[in-house]
Amino acid sequence: MGEVVAAPWGGHVVTSYDLCDYVLRAREDWLEPDSAWRRRQPESTRWSSPSSTEMSRTLPALNGLAHARVRRSAGGMFDRSTIDELQAPVTVITRKLLDRLEEQLHSMGGGVADLHSVVSEELPVATIGHWLNLPQADLPLLRDLTRDMVYTQELLPSASQLALSDRAVAQLRLYFLTLVAERRRDRGDDPVSRWITAWDEIEDDQQAADEEVYHLALFVLLAALETTATMLSQAVLTLLGHEWQWRYLTRHPEGVPGAVEEALRYDPPTHVVTRVARTDTSLAGVDIRTDETVHLMVAAAGRDQSRHQDADSFNIHRPNQGHLAFSSGIHYCLGAPLARLEAQTLLHGLLRRFPRLSLARTPQWAPRVVFRRPRSLHVALA
Ligand code: HEM
Repeated sequence: MGEVVAAPWGGHVVTSYDLCDYVLRAREDWLEPDSAWRRRQPESTRWSSPSSTEMSRTLPALNGLAHARVRRSAGGMFDRSTIDELQAPVTVITRKLLDRLEEQLHSMGGGVADLHSVVSEELPVATIGHWLNLPQADLPLLRDLTRDMVYTQELLPSASQLALSDRAVAQLRLYFLTLVAERRRDRGDDPVSRWITAWDEIEDDQQAADEEVYHLALFVLLAALETTATMLSQAVLTLLGHEWQWRYLTRHPEGVPGAVEEALRYDPPTHVVTRVARTDTSLAGVDIRTDETVHLMVAAAGRDQSRHQDADSFNIHRPNQGHLAFSSGIHYCLGAPLARLEAQTLLHGLLRRFPRLSLARTPQWAPRVVFRRPRSLHVALA
């Protein structure tokens, strides 16, 4: 229908790679829907819900200097040395999860296992729990609350979905504010303690500093779980659906990083990223008014024929021409190196231990648009 198409619910949908990338990089002209923008929306909409208000204080909803300040305070979250340190724990966690998968694959009565619930949903939360140094016992609750919080970030959430997010955010707020207070009393070598130290240097008011640290911790959890879980299952699903490429990787594991990038291009976990126009403007000849939204279809951008030859084919040998799965510009995903580490570690483990893995059933997907989520991924040994 075109590069810039009016959306039935208002605003526009942008589909091409170049235009999506341009909007994401043009930070002076295209803004995140921040708290000021949300306040300008009609009352009693999703934008005034408690969960939306709380999200508007987190990193990806900030613009300009406010964004720069918080992003700087977060530090190089997953720089080379942090990723190197996380390799061993991620490998151990993955090995244990694959042991569980193996038990189910070899069990009596069919040997079918749900890779999504047994492995994909567990690896991200266990990894983040390790990195943030959270008690193991808290992880299932945090995973469930994160799932409820996704709705407030969806494209068109219903009232009942927003109510779930509102309830979840109240619990998450209490959880993370308590955590920040504990780490303030007893500082350790963990990200939350480091963020407290960083914020104490730039913010005189201790309560305000703690709020900032809480919002960082909250958002990191929300950003890391469902996205990565979907990415893991999606990569396995796509490879199993392209059997010769799976078999190639069993013999050439050095191709795994390229396969992960291709999976991110082919079907990224987040399909839409939203921006709003700072002033009246136009995109590809289409007029867009101040404050109007544009939904950047980063998944469609990955299939743009003018960027990627034969874009609808999944091909792990494709030269990497970039994708927008982790966004672009100043809001580029801070967790991309960690997501890649988890995906590569999982694929290496699966290819080595289960070279004959196959898809047992076609997965069902949750009815979401922005944050994709398979409900299950049933696999068996061929
Ligand atoms: C496959 C997994 C992931 C995907 C697809 C993903 C995707 C994204 C996208 C699209 C954005 C930008 C949103 C925008 O431009 O408005 C983003 C931002 C962000 N992501 Fe991720 N993410 C993933 C995993 C992670 C992980 C594991 C973490 C942290 C542990 C993380 C932390 C962040 C943070 C902190 C931001 C905000 C950056 C900013 O606004 O400056 N993400 N992510």
